[in-house]
Amino acid sequence: MKTNELKLVYFSPTGTTRRVVMETARHLGLKSVSFDFSVYKTKKPMLKFNETDFTLFAAPVYGGRVPALFTEYLENITGRNTPAALIVTYGCRDYEDALLEMKTVVESHGFKVIGAAAFPTEHSIVRTIGARRPNKEDMKVIADFGVELNRRIKKEASFDQIDIHVPGNTPYRKYSSSSFTPKTDASRCTECGSCARVCPAGAISLKDPKKTDSKKCISCMKCIRICKQYARNVSPLKMRIAEGKLKKVCQNDRQADIFL
Ligand SMILES: Cc1cc2nc3c(=O)[nH]c(=O)nc-3n(C[C@H](O)[C@H](O)[C@H](O)COP(=O)(O)O)c2cc1C
Repeated sequence: MKTNELKLVYFSPTGTTRRVVMETARHLGLKSVSFDFSVYKTKKPMLKFNETDFTLFAAPVYGGRVPALFTEYLENITGRNTPAALIVTYGCRDYEDALLEMKTVVESHGFKVIGAAAFPTEHSIVRTIGARRPNKEDMKVIADFGVELNRRIKKEASFDQIDIHVPGNTPYRKYSSSSFTPKTDASRCTECGSCARVCPAGAISLKDPKKTDSKKCISCMKCIRICKQYARNVSPLKMRIAEGKLKKVCQNDRQADIFL
């Protein structure tokens, strides 16, 4: 089967998943089109892909699951026996049911999964965990994943016989929304609105960026990273407690799991 175009469908609030996707794509060596769902869209776009497309789906792990916001976008994307690969990135704790969940959703929408990977990275909430990962060695493993996918696409006449198994359990882990809603330091905020414009959940008011809807906020940390005034943050006490807890359950030297 000739593959014409690579479709990159991803969610990456703080940019790590995007880095992993781009490195994989570079080694897939196909013309690519990106669908980045890290910026809030009130209307979820409907996308239809063909048998001659190859789709790379990618997201960070939130509480051992695929972020619910990303699954909402996936609901509107359909394939026609379209080959696909899956990537999850996670902050050196665990990815539990995330790959299984992503595989189940995309396969129910007409995609055929021919490869999957879970890559340990820097933790986007507590950045001392897995700090600066993916590092040079990680990038090599990610590149090799892209090369292997490319080989598989070129070699196989049909993908029907391929049956990828990924870890995970059903029912999936219950995700209780994270309690790390960032607050605004009014003395620093210049109301420039950058945080509101980039928020993937549309949780920050465009009219008054000092206001955050904690029910909509997914605690992705994007507003903290984008704010040039350092006006957005989670309370230092909360962060210290989170760091203490996470340090007990995360391993900075976790290695990638590849399923081919
Ligand atoms: C709300 C939230 C929940 C997270 N849950 C997990 C988790 O269950 N396991 C884990 O190892 N890392 C977890 N992480 C860390 C991210 O999965 C990881 O840092 C990811 O690479 C961030 O991707 P991004 O830079 O593309 O946003 C979580 C991060 C956030 C913000």
